[in-house]
Amino acid sequence: MRTTISQILDLARSGQKIPMLTAYDSATARLLDAAGIPLILVGDSLGQVMLGYDSTLPVTMDDMIRHTSAVVRGAQNAFIVGDMPFMSYQISESDALANAGRFLKEAGCQGVKLEGGRQVAPLVEKLVGYGIPVMGHVGLTPQSINQLGGPRLQARTAAQAKVLLDDALALERAGAFSVVLELVPAQVSRMISDRLEVPTIGIGAGPDCDGQVLVISDLLGMNPAFHPKFLKRYAELAETIRSAAQTYAEEVKSGAFPDREHSHWMSAEEEALLSDL
Ligand code: KIV
Repeated sequence: MRTTISQILDLARSGQKIPMLTAYDSATARLLDAAGIPLILVGDSLGQVMLGYDSTLPVTMDDMIRHTSAVVRGAQNAFIVGDMPFMSYQISESDALANAGRFLKEAGCQGVKLEGGRQVAPLVEKLVGYGIPVMGHVGLTPQSINQLGGPRLQARTAAQAKVLLDDALALERAGAFSVVLELVPAQVSRMISDRLEVPTIGIGAGPDCDGQVLVISDLLGMNPAFHPKFLKRYAELAETIRSAAQTYAEEVKSGAFPDREHSHWMSAEEEALLSDL
């Protein structure tokens, strides 16, 4: 049975922390589902993680639909959120409704995420009113990276924290079922989490959010060059993959692979006939 919004809200109300991870493909989604991850985000971090861009900005709706539908096919139990890419909801309300609708109709996910606070609250209200669950996202909003001047800690002052709180409250009032807080001081996310009824999901936001999210490839150690303070690696797959590929290449070159065990063989009788061909 797929996780529902009310189950996610119940987790938060009962004080249980919510683990969320990103996924971009079916095989990974199946493993996250098997691990009992209740919330999977098909983030527009797809741009950097899977498509080799240096930001989320070039990611298109078609990219997101293709990868979100793959994740939906892989995970039968998690609540799956599709991330609305840059300029898929900013141009007009009708564009935003059509694009959010594509996530549910074509990709089959259960909700969408979009970045921004008070400015997007009227849109969030519209989407929720039409039955599309929305996760908000404030703090560091990567689609505004050019405006923000880089991946910097947000809301460093009490005055900035108040602006962030007002943004998060506006999203909650508009009907968002949860709000991502990215790269903000732990004290600020604690204060916002205390003030919001809906769960906050933190990334680089300290321990007091109702849930946490990490990008799956970061958690798995796929890119050792990326080591921000907030990131804890739970595996070192970069080295595992590199060394497996190197051993494979050596064995192919030396003839050690494939060996008898990894080859198919015909019967001796049929083999004897080969010389007559
Ligand atoms: O795109 C993404 O992966 C995200 C998370 C980091 C919250 O927005």
